[in-house]
Amino acid sequence: MRNIKKILIEERTYKKYFVKELEDNFHTSSGVISSEDLRSDKEVIISNKGKRFLLLEPNFADLWESLQRGPQVMIQKDIGLIIAKTGINKTTFVVDAGGGSGSLCLSLANICKEIIVYEINPEHLDVIRKNIEMFGVKNLKLKQEDIYKGIKEKNIDLLTLDLPEPWQVIEHAEKSLKTGGHLVVYLPNLTQVKTFIDSTNKTRIKVLQIIEILEREWKIEDKIMRPEFQMLGHTGFLIFCRRF
Ligand SMILES: C[S@@+](CC[C@H](N)C(=O)[O-])C[C@H]1O[C@@H](n2cnc3c(N)ncnc32)[C@H](O)[C@@H]1O
Repeated sequence: MRNIKKILIEERTYKKYFVKELEDNFHTSSGVISSEDLRSDKEVIISNKGKRFLLLEPNFADLWESLQRGPQVMIQKDIGLIIAKTGINKTTFVVDAGGGSGSLCLSLANICKEIIVYEINPEHLDVIRKNIEMFGVKNLKLKQEDIYKGIKEKNIDLLTLDLPEPWQVIEHAEKSLKTGGHLVVYLPNLTQVKTFIDSTNKTRIKVLQIIEILEREWKIEDKIMRPEFQMLGHTGFLIFCRRF
């Protein structure tokens, strides 16, 4: 059962609020929204201070913003490229490790047929479970297992690895990915990237691309037209591989 029932977005500031309870009035910095309005099917409502808000069902991207965070999560700029480059859809079978906070695996679960998630740390598993509940996801299965020791699943369409030593998974990946299947590895350091690439030599896993995404927002306001001073810079390198 999802615990976020509705979202409110203020028209003037675009500030977003997450509403968990529809029976009580909701207080914002721009006035109070009545519980009657929250339960209504109106899409635009007005606070007691006369400010306009959109009232919407939360979609996946809205819920992602309120994801509970344990270990460092993969962020949307990187997740987006994985989805685009692997072309996953409702027929795709995915294995992900380590699950971490669930940011990547939940984003993939939103699109694919089925996803199995390996996570070794029980505390991180608890974080993922809470996030699964918030998203109401049904096609994701969690395993408290060390993926370095093996992958039981076969015929995998996509394997994603966001953990410190993915080279320990390369032989298992070779056996478990279907021919043509995708392997995507996410690593923060170039030294790790080099070790991983070396580990693919003499295997059927071939490295196709190594990509880093930098995201720069722009400020457009009257005569101001410039990049924001801060940007989303280096998070990690994405290594796109395929099993031949
Ligand atoms: C950076 S986090 C992954 C974040 C995740 N991709 C997300 O978007 O939320 C790395 C995770 O890998 C897990 N991990 C490390 N080694 C592992 C292993 N051998 N098998 C399974 N999980 C492992 C860690 O416990 C940690 O939760």
